Amino acid sequence: DGAQQAARLLARHLAEGNPLPESVALVLWGADNLKSGGGPIGQALALLGARPRLDSYGRLCGADLIPLAELGRPRIDVLITLSGIFRDLLPLQTRLLAEAAYLAAQADEPLEQNFVRRHALAHQAALGVDLETAALRVFSNGDGAYGANVNQLIDSSAWQKEDELAETYCKRKCFAYGRNGNPVRQEELLKTLLASVQLAYQNLESVELGVTTVDHYFDTLGGIGRAARRASGTELPVYIGDQTQGEGRVRTLSEQVSLESRTRSLNPRWAEEMLKHGAEGVRQIESQVTNTLGWSATTGQVEPWVYRELTQTYVLDPAMRERLARLNPRASLRLCNRLIEATERSYWQPDEEMLRALRQAGEELEDNLEGLGSRAAA
Ligand code: BEZ
Ligand code: MG
Repeated sequence: DGAQQAARLLARHLAEGNPLPESVALVLWGADNLKSGGGPIGQALALLGARPRLDSYGRLCGADLIPLAELGRPRIDVLITLSGIFRDLLPLQTRLLAEAAYLAAQADEPLEQNFVRRHALAHQAALGVDLETAALRVFSNGDGAYGANVNQLIDSSAWQKEDELAETYCKRKCFAYGRNGNPVRQEELLKTLLASVQLAYQNLESVELGVTTVDHYFDTLGGIGRAARRASGTELPVYIGDQTQGEGRVRTLSEQVSLESRTRSLNPRWAEEMLKHGAEGVRQIESQVTNTLGWSATTGQVEPWVYRELTQTYVLDPAMRERLARLNPRASLRLCNRLIEATERSYWQPDEEMLRALRQAGEELEDNLEGLGSRAAA
């Protein structure tokens, strides 16, 4: 399954008119790997051209390289970033991935058939480190830490330039896990690796959660996309491998956000079901909007019509606006302000009339909230 998913990812990237990538970034989550029997792990191994090695009892004990003749394409360099949960749940698999990258880096093979070795030798020379260090490809948080904190910045709007999101990501996720499984801070190496990443990718394993449902997807996948863009100086494609139906399907991030917007946040049936949950439902709708902005901030790949239609649906429709404000005054103001923030950050551009109406709605929602506050105080 991992090999098939990897082939599907490469096929989609080539179909977009790109050459075979030399280096890709994969985001691996713990729960997703448990649910799928290690599908994303298998995918990372397949790209590297490796497979698990089992001992005579059938227990996992390391990695083996697949010979190039059998692999039938070059070994692709993979920057593997693990969630803190993956690191906690799957220490053997963490070491397996590190060993696969190391074996690829030290294999005596032509460099045009082994991009891991080509890059590791270059990083070794550039950074003045040994091959073991230059071959580190598995990154996560330091001990006891979780997440990239990019979601916290988006939530609080406490950032000016998108590069700050990249910097935050690198500070949090720069702990390299080598063959011994111990994390070592390697920020410079991470940035060197990021500079050659040509695409970023993550699987989606559950129909219940989309990339705009929770803020963890843009935190990790968006975060690494932005960090790679900053390190390389060029925009790079971000893909989602939807594993929730059939054989799986690779979409661009832009396609995925558009799809989720149509089926969730802009779907009246979804919204009505949410609103049955009262204040919490409004909060969920607001989360969708905030997570959408998170994708704009990290990847710049959200189409402007998404914001326009969110604005029309939840702010400019007076009946809907009043319903939201009644059920959850605070979240409805946050939703409106998030759409205004998205215009200020140039993620979409409403015409003057729409912008004026949006701002005015924001003021009314704020007055409504303050009115509630003073009534409560009185
Ligand atoms: C994980 O299983 O790795 C994970 C789950 C939820 C959010 C982030 C990571
Ligand atoms: Mg599957």
